[in-house]
Amino acid sequence: MAKVLVTGADGFIGSHLVEHLVAEGHEVRALAQYNSFNSWGWLDHLPSLDGVEVVSGDIRDAQFCTTLTQGVETVFHLAALIAIPYSYVAPDSYVETNVRGTLNICQAALNAGCARVIHTSTSEVYGTARYVPIDEAHPLQPQSPYSASKIGADAIAMSFQSAFELPLTIARPFNTYGPRQSARAVIPTIIAQIAAGATQIKLGDVTPTRDFNYVLDTCRGFFLKLFFGPRELAG
Ligand SMILES: NC(=O)c1ccc[n+]([C@@H]2O[C@H](COP(=O)([O-])OP(=O)(O)OC[C@H]3O[C@@H](n4cnc5c(N)ncnc54)[C@H](O)[C@@H]3O)[C@@H](O)[C@H]2O)c1
Repeated sequence: MAKVLVTGADGFIGSHLVEHLVAEGHEVRALAQYNSFNSWGWLDHLPSLDGVEVVSGDIRDAQFCTTLTQGVETVFHLAALIAIPYSYVAPDSYVETNVRGTLNICQAALNAGCARVIHTSTSEVYGTARYVPIDEAHPLQPQSPYSASKIGADAIAMSFQSAFELPLTIARPFNTYGPRQSARAVIPTIIAQIAAGATQIKLGDVTPTRDFNYVLDTCRGFFLKLFFGPRELAG
């Protein structure tokens, strides 16, 4: 069976996707961001890495991405900087990782002749909803440098589909929750306070509303893209 590449495999959603793909019998190349601690992030915590080829590297490096995509049929591109607050203080790194990194992955996938690329965007590109439910016709509103960098990444990926016929799907997940999620997210924050015995939950602004998806449901959505072409399955 041809190889599936998962970028961001060391992260929350990517590590679950790797497990799901392996359980379904796929050979996975898993990209963990290189660091000097020899850490593969959440991949270090999986019960087994059978069927997984872990590669350390960085999507900001175009030459590295060329090697990364060799022999790969499907690319699930999840690697990104995702924290909105950090994007206010370090926007440059968001452009480098999310925009340039996505350019490198698209270019490398095109050159390697990959059969499909699933690029992960986010519901954040829509900003504060002007109407609900948000659909794909909703205007894009870059309310943070993170959102802007994802809008830029989507535009780069779409240009590769229009200009070079890259077989592309863009997924825009809404808030995802589940095991391995960052402790600063709202559901872990509530659970941590209950576990610490709090009788009153303290949160910041509780006026915004959100749609939440369980991480394995998000992964199942990604997984279905292996069987359908870019336009056969919406969303
Ligand atoms: N978590 C959510 O609720 C949510 C919602 C919508 C969209 N998304 C998108 O899903 C994807 C995965 O998000 P997540 O929640 O698993 O985040 P995460 O931070 O847990 O995972 C992202 C991974 O990307 C890796 N990465 C960052 N920079 C890199 C680089 N330069 N080279 C290689 N790897 C790099 C990090 O090591 C990290 O593990 C992201 O693209 C994010 O924008 C997440």
